[in-house]
Amino acid sequence: MPRWIRVASAADHPAGSAVELVAEDRIIALFHVDDRWFALDGVCPHQGGPLGKGTLQGCIVTCPWHGWQFDVESGQHQTTTAAVHTKFAVKVEDGEVYVDVDIE
Ligand code: FES
Repeated sequence: MPRWIRVASAADHPAGSAVELVAEDRIIALFHVDDRWFALDGVCPHQGGPLGKGTLQGCIVTCPWHGWQFDVESGQHQTTTAAVHTKFAVKVEDGEVYVDVDIE
């Protein structure tokens, strides 16, 4: 059962942006890529770095602490195929961004 939590206004996050947010008890990394939105667990699985404060290039975010890279659409680590980071569904309604905090 989806549990949609409003996390942001879309107008505050232009395409190409990444941001760290809190939704209930989770730290969420929200990404706006062209006209699409994605969300990952905001805590990097390496050593806990803030993925929402990483650098976003296309669909790839680079963790600001040690440079691990993830595809924000799939959660796939870019060099370790076995590692897939937790992702969340995102929707935009009436200019507001919602994240389903139930893990996909
Ligand atoms: S904490 Fe993210 S790469 Fe090390």
